[in-house]
Amino acid sequence: MYRAPRGTFDILPDQQAYWQYIRSKVADICQLYGYERIDTPIFESSGLFVRSIGDDTDIVQKEMYTFDDRGGDQLTLRPEGTAPVCRAYLEHGMYNFPQPVRLYYIGPSFRYERPQAGRYRQHWQFGVEAIGESDASIDAEIIDMAWSLYRSVGLRDLVLKLNSIGCPKCRPQYLEALKNYYSQNFDRLCSDCKRRLDRNPLRILDCKNETCMSLAEQAPRSIDYLCDDCAEHFRLLVRYLEILGLRPEVDHHLVRGLDYYTRTVFEIQPHAEEGAQSTIGGGGRYDGLIEELGGKPTPAIGFATGIERMVVNMKRQGIELPPASRPEAFVAFLGQEAKEKAVECVGWMRGEGIGTILASGNRSLKAQLRQANTFGASFAVIIGEDELRDGLVMLRDMSGGEQRRVTFDEALQALQQSGK
Ligand code: HAM
Repeated sequence: MYRAPRGTFDILPDQQAYWQYIRSKVADICQLYGYERIDTPIFESSGLFVRSIGDDTDIVQKEMYTFDDRGGDQLTLRPEGTAPVCRAYLEHGMYNFPQPVRLYYIGPSFRYERPQAGRYRQHWQFGVEAIGESDASIDAEIIDMAWSLYRSVGLRDLVLKLNSIGCPKCRPQYLEALKNYYSQNFDRLCSDCKRRLDRNPLRILDCKNETCMSLAEQAPRSIDYLCDDCAEHFRLLVRYLEILGLRPEVDHHLVRGLDYYTRTVFEIQPHAEEGAQSTIGGGGRYDGLIEELGGKPTPAIGFATGIERMVVNMKRQGIELPPASRPEAFVAFLGQEAKEKAVECVGWMRGEGIGTILASGNRSLKAQLRQANTFGASFAVIIGEDELRDGLVMLRDMSGGEQRRVTFDEALQALQQSGK
């Protein structure tokens, strides 16, 4: 028997309510904040991701699904949405549009990770990107939008973690200080971090090894090394967040796993959970990325959330969803001639916008009514020999069991009334 590939799963009908609910909230929030939808291809040239996410990141080193197509092009299933959106921004000359350009996307992403709860090889991301604005008020807008989405699906007890990792002007001094600090403690670093020390010392702060975590406690903090502009940007961001009623927790170890970030980085986590998989969503500023991809210097910021992680947390918090809508009517029949009438009636009913299911097979009336109950239909329309002869139908209220013989038009009217 074939099974879904490791790290992937089917979303069965009984789970779709969560997904549908989240999608509808996403659409509402994006409309509210003025973000427009963009869809990019599921695969892109591999170079796009290597260039933007960074050579030394786990994603590029170990997690990309990369393949050569039959024409010899090297392609990668998108591991995230920011780089493709920036590629599209440049390709379609969106720098000529009024700035910032506000975009959102929702779709699957692929990372060859070790599967565990909340970590999959195919996961769905909803993300937003605001490209072409450096003001801290847009950082606040993006963070507020993420927060509002979680609140709108009912999630509570969340923590907003915030940090600033500076810009190309001030970061080198900070990296130098980090290297100095960790060089003095080199022997205590895990083997991964020993390797990271020269190439990507920021990532040591994020290491989940116990000794590395305790070393991080005393490590130099990026916000102490910010240049005046970055410090002012951070101060204003915290101020705007306060005005919006958000209370960020400054986390000096928050650096994020993608190399394109500058200044603002943030993550949102459930209060009680710690650890990499507990992050529901995160993002940050990437002021150098558009230029890195061949455009003019263009500031930008964005955010993405895993839909699976939203669903897991909604279930954990016992969030009830509005009941799924059920078909309004079920059409039962007795005999071949009545069946033909039933097929015709079902067509008319759907044409009138009434969700209708036709009984399957040629079962007894009792069995058909049991089916109607299983589907959760509010009414059954029954066509027997007598009804056929008299040009009527039997309309049965499935909740109370009362039934009456009516014309088909009367049945339609009753169904339309009850559906309102
Ligand atoms: P990221 O933190 O790598 O950021 O991913 C964003 C979110 O996607 C995570 O917070 C998590 O909810 C979900 N996620 C990531 N990997 C997995 C996985 N293997 N299984 C399940 N869920 C996962 C980005 O991708 C950036 N592009 C976000 C961004 C947008 N930054 C600026 N703009």
